[in-house]
Amino acid sequence: MKLKGSTAVITGGASGLGRAFAERVVAEGGNVAVLDLNKEVGEEFAASNPSRIAYFQVDVTSEESVKAALTAAVAKFGGIHIVLNSAGISSPCRVLNNKGAVHSMEHFDKVIRINLHGTFNVIRLALPIIAKQVRRSSPNVIWLSNCLGNSSFFSPANF
Ligand SMILES: NC(=O)c1ccc[n+]([C@@H]2O[C@H](COP(=O)([O-])OP(=O)(O)OC[C@H]3O[C@@H](n4cnc5c(N)ncnc54)[C@H](O)[C@@H]3O)[C@@H](O)[C@H]2O)c1
Repeated sequence: MKLKGSTAVITGGASGLGRAFAERVVAEGGNVAVLDLNKEVGEEFAASNPSRIAYFQVDVTSEESVKAALTAAVAKFGGIHIVLNSAGISSPCRVLNNKGAVHSMEHFDKVIRINLHGTFNVIRLALPIIAKQVRRSSPNVIWLSNCLGNSSFFSPANF
């Protein structure tokens, strides 16, 4: 994937894996739009290189919030070439714990809403913009997963 001269939208880019990818894009000569809930850390990161990093306070589950950030990212950098979905939460909880309590649906819905619906929301809204820049059958859309999604580990049932 060519990073030099590219603009990457990175959800969850204020910290962790998303931040690491954002730093790599900038180091390779690209631009980064960080979409993250964490305003304090996101703004501090953007201030480290304001011409190449933009921070937008975004909840990935919100259509309005994501659309506004993508529009602002295009206005600043001229387009979008890559989307990396790293916004997510892990919230360990057993389906049935050793005290006999069952997993709440509110808790389950929250994790699914951010990790699954939020990721899809960003992809569907970013794709029409990326398609204008990336003239290939496979645009640069990446999302993070976890091996726990394929295993029968008991604790992060919502994950
Ligand atoms: N760290 C690991 O070893 C690992 C391994 C496999 C998968 N993952 C998955 O990769 C993703 C990133 O992991 P990480 O360790 O970098 O996590 P992290 O907690 O360091 O970063 C996640 C970022 O997402 C942001 N975020 C959370 N909810 C959001 C929302 N609704 N809208 C916008 N931003 C939101 C947080 O503010 C945070 O900056 C997660 O989905 C995680 O489950 C992590």
